[in-house]
Amino acid sequence: MDHFEHRDARLHAEDVDVREIADAVGTPAFIYSAATLRTHFERFRDAFAPIDPLICFAVKSNANLAVLRLLGELGSGMDVVSGGELHRALEAGIPAERCVFAGVGKTELELEAALRAGVGSINVESEQELEVLASVARRLGVVAPVSIRVNPDVDPHTHHHTTTGTRETKFGIDAERVPAVFETARREPALDAHGLHVHLGSPIYDTAPYVEGIGRLLELADRIEGEGSPITRLDIGGGFAADYETGRAPDAAAYADAIVPLLRDRVARGLRVVIEPGRAIAANAGILLLRVVARKTSGRKTFLVCDGGMNALLRPSHYDAFHFAWPVAPPASQVPLRRTERPDVPDLEQVDVVGPICETGDFLARDRWLPRLERGDLLAVYATGAYGMTMASRYNAMPLPAEILVDGDAHRVIRRRETFEDLISHER
Ligand code: LLP
Repeated sequence: MDHFEHRDARLHAEDVDVREIADAVGTPAFIYSAATLRTHFERFRDAFAPIDPLICFAVKSNANLAVLRLLGELGSGMDVVSGGELHRALEAGIPAERCVFAGVGKTELELEAALRAGVGSINVESEQELEVLASVARRLGVVAPVSIRVNPDVDPHTHHHTTTGTRETKFGIDAERVPAVFETARREPALDAHGLHVHLGSPIYDTAPYVEGIGRLLELADRIEGEGSPITRLDIGGGFAADYETGRAPDAAAYADAIVPLLRDRVARGLRVVIEPGRAIAANAGILLLRVVARKTSGRKTFLVCDGGMNALLRPSHYDAFHFAWPVAPPASQVPLRRTERPDVPDLEQVDVVGPICETGDFLARDRWLPRLERGDLLAVYATGAYGMTMASRYNAMPLPAEILVDGDAHRVIRRRETFEDLISHER
């Protein structure tokens, strides 16, 4: 679900004609819809209401301050994985106790910043991290709130780059060692070991891995509680899918239907549940607006070369990810009803949509069916509100794109386009 639709064959972001934005701020630009962000957040909140979880938005998916602030105002907490993300969350006005801090490589400086800020939980990923955290907490004279991140060895059936909860990935602590680690944490006065955390990977298009992963977590929780340490917090991670293709992803209610029954009784007895959706809230809330700079053929192939590629949106080349793309102003007969590889409209041609970067791996879509586009036409790449801008780079000395937030009939620049001067401003 989103608020990007062709009205009279002109793409609108909510009530704004995106051509107006292109005229005002140029391309490439990420355009976000506030109403879409709100709707997806509210759907998660409502679907999971019976267990009233703390929803910690995954900042890595979209870290713009205006986006974080908007979600914070709806009551969202934040899942951060670095000192930089924590800084952004705090700067956006998110109360620290609503933040959880995960990540395999937290430095002492980052741990110190998190403890000073007073984050709600530090999700510890190794025995060594636990020791370092205890020493930092002792030095500061505080007690660190700790959840142990469990590696449950559950396969989420997603891309291997984004599978995190199987054995022999770098994440979490092997389930069988967790009770002992918990016991160590419990004996350390500078630590308050209160919870368990799991994140299986993403995107996960099926509810079964959650059921399996949470099942493992609950077995562990029972065992640890049996040994005398209460578990008051269970963080079940993120990974909920977004609608990259019409109709493929389960919605928030489908995930909740599978997950809520597993946790409801324990919540009634005082357990606090945390969920960490990123893309399910932000992906469909964004499009990447590009302009075609050249149309060319090479052998049998037709290429549409756009003014942004892997530098703006890395997901196609990094994960072979599918992102629907469509002209901003197609002929009326070519307005698609479904976002698929080949929408059911007449007169399409098969092309490769590529960027300007000097690599053959720089593509946004290959062998894709599109209406004919010419040099100068605008193209929208959908479901790019998550892991678009946050993974963008300045490769080939490309300034980072602008970000625009639309709300109803209003739009404002929430990150200005970088300039050539910005590119060199850190160098001496
Ligand atoms: N929690 C933890 C601990 C995570 O590591 C992640 C994502 C999330 C939550 C949020 O996952 P989400 O709900 O957004 O799927 N760059 C990749 C995704 C990498 C995700 C890494 N961790 C992509 O573009 O698909």
